[in-house]
Amino acid sequence: MLLSGPGRGVSAVDERLARLRADAGLGLQIGVLRTGGLALAVGGDRVARLLHRPWRLDPYPVYRDLRAAQIAPGGGPVRSRTGITAVATHASCAAVLRDRRFGVRLADGRRRMDEGGAGGAAAAVFEPVDLSLLTLDPPDHTRLRRLAQPAFSPHRLVEYRAVAEDVAARLLDEALARDRREGRFDLVRDLASPLPITVISALLAVPAVDRERFARWGRVLGSALDGVRSPAHARQLADSTADLRELFGGLLELRRREPGDDVVSALATAVDDGGATVDEVLALAQLLLVAGFETTTNLIGNAVRALLAEPGQWRALTGDPSLAAAAVEETLRFDPPVQLTARVAHEDTEVDGVPIRRDHGVLVLLGAAGRDPAAHRDPDRFDVRRARTSAHLAFSSGAHYCLGAPLARLEAEVALRLLAERAPRLRVAGRAVPRVATVLRGPLRFPVSAGA
Ligand code: HEM
Repeated sequence: MLLSGPGRGVSAVDERLARLRADAGLGLQIGVLRTGGLALAVGGDRVARLLHRPWRLDPYPVYRDLRAAQIAPGGGPVRSRTGITAVATHASCAAVLRDRRFGVRLADGRRRMDEGGAGGAAAAVFEPVDLSLLTLDPPDHTRLRRLAQPAFSPHRLVEYRAVAEDVAARLLDEALARDRREGRFDLVRDLASPLPITVISALLAVPAVDRERFARWGRVLGSALDGVRSPAHARQLADSTADLRELFGGLLELRRREPGDDVVSALATAVDDGGATVDEVLALAQLLLVAGFETTTNLIGNAVRALLAEPGQWRALTGDPSLAAAAVEETLRFDPPVQLTARVAHEDTEVDGVPIRRDHGVLVLLGAAGRDPAAHRDPDRFDVRRARTSAHLAFSSGAHYCLGAPLARLEAEVALRLLAERAPRLRVAGRAVPRVATVLRGPLRFPVSAGA
């Protein structure tokens, strides 16, 4: 529309002006949130500290303080001057996640960002991309989750394991060749990042020619989980969403004409049967990419970091590579890739005796739950031989329990086992660069060497 006709120049100017106004508005919102939050953080507000440096680089001491405040006599969910209430013990995090009186939207079904006011503005910054299931309550959530479920059936997982083993072996061959040439390789760039993206491409049957762009959009959209950083970031997100929509739209059409045995074909059928709209299935496909990519990358990165930080732990794994699955569970408890999520009360209710009003948001600190001494003995110690390591909330709980959990576990287990078997002398070979984020946690770069 803007590309032809005499009005083109005017429209283009209008569009730029509109964009500048939108940028200024968004920039102001982000600025106010960040500056206001930082002032509170410096003033001692522990919830605000989770959003800011230096605290968010190592949130575990902040979690410990929040838990102490929560269990102190007369304590309970910690109220912050940011307007957010947070829960930090394992018991209260699990209780909120499993409680049907909490959902992810406002009680009347609107999204928080439609609410207006400060809460709505914050939600707009933190929910820049349609994350499908993650932002839906029943009955829409139940209906759409059912559509994605078959992609994670046990029979599918056997196929994904074969893909993961194949891809991981090839990636490690290349990484070890680089190590021989350069004296090190980057665990994230060379293994932890390409492994999940290749598996998800297989899951969504993305054609090989599109995979590189697919990976790039996945990286950009993954950053949406942590909120919008700037107007330029918002534009990047919008552009990647549009590109991905086009790719999935084409894929959906293709599968409509030539149905296969994959999840996109199932989604195309659902659209034809009236079980879902095109917008719904496009957002769902996008969620599978966003939710399954950087999360798994971080899991592998955090696992190897924790293992190498304690030589005895790495030795335990190389001595018995069948401990790889236990090492994955211990990482999920000790240093989970997704640190927090949020819920909204759908009626006036209470948590640990503290009233929570209808439509009030609660931050559920999954990373804090894993370090709760009431749930885990000696919680700050990483120990691959720990009993009952799977009693963590890293994949959430209740209605939104991670659909991809078996896949994430499988990929990380394959990666750790292979590293233990083929690079038993693995060591840190440089400074890891952490991701500066609140929701996602893991290294962006992690130089290691197989030390051969
Ligand atoms: C280590 C890797 C992963 C972690 C730590 C993780 C974590 C989570 C968490 C915490 C949630 C729920 C958030 C909430 O309760 O609000 C979630 C939901 C979800 N995850 Fe994962 N995830 C991982 C990998 C994956 C993979 C590999 C996939 C798929 C390819 C995936 C797909 C999903 C989907 C579709 C949901 C939404 C479920 C719903 O809302 O009903 N995840 N994940």
